[in-house]
Amino acid sequence: MAAYYRALPFANGLPSWEPEDAAWHGGPEPWPPQRTPASVEQLERMAAADTKDESFHPIATFVDGRCVGASATISFEVTVPGGRTGRMAGVTATGVMATHRRRGYLRRMMQAMFDAALERGEPLAMLSASEGSIYGRFGFSPATYRTRWELARHEATLLPAEPDPGTLELVDATQARKAWPLVQADVCAHRVGELSPLPGRWDGLTDEADGTNGPLRYLTHRDQHGNVDGIANFRLPWSPTTDHAGILVVESLEATNPVAYRALWGLLIDFDLTKTVVAAGRPRDEPLRWMLTNPRAMRITRQTDNLWARLLDVPRALTQRSYLTPGVLRFAIGDDRMCRANNRTWRLNADGPMVTCVPTDEAPDLTITLSALSSLYFGGMSARHLAYAGHITPHADGAIGQLARMFWTDAEPHNSFGF
Ligand SMILES: CC(C)(COP(=O)(O)OP(=O)(O)OC[C@H]1O[C@@H](n2cnc3c(N)ncnc32)[C@H](O)[C@@H]1OP(=O)(O)O)[C@@H](O)C(=O)NCCC(=O)NCCS
Repeated sequence: MAAYYRALPFANGLPSWEPEDAAWHGGPEPWPPQRTPASVEQLERMAAADTKDESFHPIATFVDGRCVGASATISFEVTVPGGRTGRMAGVTATGVMATHRRRGYLRRMMQAMFDAALERGEPLAMLSASEGSIYGRFGFSPATYRTRWELARHEATLLPAEPDPGTLELVDATQARKAWPLVQADVCAHRVGELSPLPGRWDGLTDEADGTNGPLRYLTHRDQHGNVDGIANFRLPWSPTTDHAGILVVESLEATNPVAYRALWGLLIDFDLTKTVVAAGRPRDEPLRWMLTNPRAMRITRQTDNLWARLLDVPRALTQRSYLTPGVLRFAIGDDRMCRANNRTWRLNADGPMVTCVPTDEAPDLTITLSALSSLYFGGMSARHLAYAGHITPHADGAIGQLARMFWTDAEPHNSFGF
């Protein structure tokens, strides 16, 4: 494990192994800042901790006894359409040394990770991609989006609403560490695409300043009974040149109901001495937009794909979610080069209380690529657009409409953190 941690920074062009900052996308900076590399003792300690973590499954490539490439899967639970949770292998920490690239090491590690995930009973893999050109060939395809948006304070006024019977409170990191898991557990149960938190996810929250970024501040909302039902982490970056003055950065905000959500945003978008609110890693269909007198005041400044999905076991994955419209669909898959059991015609029956997906000799209503089916899995992508782009070929009248109506979800899938 220590060899693995030493190899990864070189493979990824990072100054050192910095797990906290390795969620590169979504934060305001594209790459982590330069820091002191981890010491040998720190690496050994991290390696020892990770070998004890049963949800972490590392894999590495050794050439002449030297680790030249690595990747890992983390066993997650992910909320699927209908509200159940499914098991998922989250691919992370991937890199092959620049000197050993394009020799098929990633492909072999990926195949081994898929096989191991299937053995553990994980019918689905997900990842976030450093470059959009790498993972399509392994069957991954975008399944969720995230946005970064800005809101000018003078343009941001909330529409009138009933008075809030709850209370807002600025709390310290110790209180925030207690509040986050309570709020997140509820969010996770209700939001399609949300992941079970990584162990120790909130351990790093601190009251200490982080250079010119300023310290993280924490705002909670309690309902009229005193229960925490919303929380936000935000910063007021400080700069001697005043370039950054007046910006309030919301790093995360979650609430279990619209009243708490509105109250938290209400305070943050009208914070004295600020001019602009910036939020990253947010869903595309942020409800705040619909709470503003001027919905155009919220300007999306960046939109990217977030998690990519890859079905490893098609029937198992499809039977753990539910479908918006009942129906029966026969579809053929023929392009899965890594999990070949998926290549056949399937009959998905979501017409009764139990969803089934079994092989069939009947003629398919449509042929779909494995990656297009993976994109549709969480219900956030358009079947029509995928068909328009040639990823789905209909063989029967109305087949694309039927696929679209069955797989769609009424709220866009989203997950609130990277891994
Ligand atoms: C991305 C990376 C892990 C690929 O490892 P690798 O061992 O070179 O990949 P492989 O040799 O197994 O390549 C498999 C296929 O992907 C292609 N490929 C690999 N990396 C690619 C890239 N960055 N862009 C486009 N295609 C790529 C290869 O050409 C090969 O194609 P083929 O199967 O059609 O022949 C490696 O280039 C790397 O470490 N890059 C920098 C760090 C990084 O981006 N890590 C990913 C973090 S999400």
